[in-house]
Amino acid sequence: MKIKKMIITSVSMLIASSSLLATVNANECKACHGPNFEKSALGRSDIVANMTHGDIAVSLIDYKTTTTKDELVMKNVVSKYSDQELKDFAQTIGKKGKETFLHKITHLFN
Ligand code: HEC
Repeated sequence: MKIKKMIITSVSMLIASSSLLATVNANECKACHGPNFEKSALGRSDIVANMTHGDIAVSLIDYKTTTTKDELVMKNVVSKYSDQELKDFAQTIGKKGKETFLHKITHLFN
């Protein structure tokens, strides 16, 4: 009885820790955005290190549904992640802050 409980506990802990690992792989971004997101990717993107967490989150989630040719490269990167994974990851890069007014406006015309 006790052993059974221990097995169940360790299996569920294993599942919990492996789902924690299913986060965005930052190494994948470095080739284009630089090791610290300090570069303009392919000379086209904004410097992500200077963007707010909120702006990054909105951009990443929007790329999932983009049909704009220049943005397909990012669609390919983000399509394998859930919105929540992208939101959480956005908190770990760029700088503090919500989506900015300027970002909201530019997105309306994209
Ligand atoms: C193959 C090159 C490439 C890779 C790999 C890549 N990106 Fe990008 N990224 C781009 C390009 C090019 C753009 C600009 C696209 C456009 O025209 O909007 C961009 C745009 C962005 C933007 C929005 C910047 C803006 O201008 O508003 C964010 C945020 C971003 N990338 C984050 C990431 C993250 C996070 C990863 C890794 C998980 C990643 N990128 C991987 C090329 C890349």
